[in-house]
Amino acid sequence: MPKDGLFISFEGIDGSGKSTQARMLAEALEARGKDVVLTREPGGSEGAEEIRALVLQGNPDRWSAETELLLFTAARRDHVERTITPALKAGKIVVCDRFADSTRLYQGMTRGDLRGTVDALHDLVIGLEPDLTFIIDMDPDKGHARAKGRQTIEERFEDFGTDFQHRLRGEFLQLAEEFSHRCVVIDGDASPEIVASRVLAALDAHG
Ligand code: TYD
Repeated sequence: MPKDGLFISFEGIDGSGKSTQARMLAEALEARGKDVVLTREPGGSEGAEEIRALVLQGNPDRWSAETELLLFTAARRDHVERTITPALKAGKIVVCDRFADSTRLYQGMTRGDLRGTVDALHDLVIGLEPDLTFIIDMDPDKGHARAKGRQTIEERFEDFGTDFQHRLRGEFLQLAEEFSHRCVVIDGDASPEIVASRVLAALDAHG
């Protein structure tokens, strides 16, 4: 897929503060006069937002990892077709709260090894990677407490528990090494303003 804009994603465990950081980066870039599209996954297009409710609400065992993978990928395909690709083609900066790296970990590694299937499906129907990915790193116990403190109905993954979040953190750090050309790990254990300044500095250093 051709692209002229810049595609930035944010990743991290639940409660890492990445959604706040995605918003703050979008605002900082707009203040610099850039044309920015702030979006999120699962979601970011009408159809994908409908799928969001299916995958984030209900019991943790509502779907098998395989079914979940298909739902997340269907949502992503719609999001890419309708929101991300048109914005990149128009030369905009897309700031996305979670993208395919979340699927590589949540569906790919946490309930058996489905990583090969995730990557094959990604190559087949998505085929797009961010230019730059910020992984907001956070102590899993602090992140989990924050995420559960929000009291939303979108808690399927938070309900897998803190052990799950500990594993995820390790796997996010490993993923940062695997995709070191595009991933930057940001220490998220500070005020939102300080973390945001770390993100901006890393973006500017990236060029
Ligand atoms: P999100 O809305 O980013 O929640 P939070 O702000 O609490 O991190 O993501 C919702 C959940 O969806 C999160 O627990 C991770 C999960 N998820 C997957 O399992 N696979 C995916 O491909 C994506 C995009 C998210």
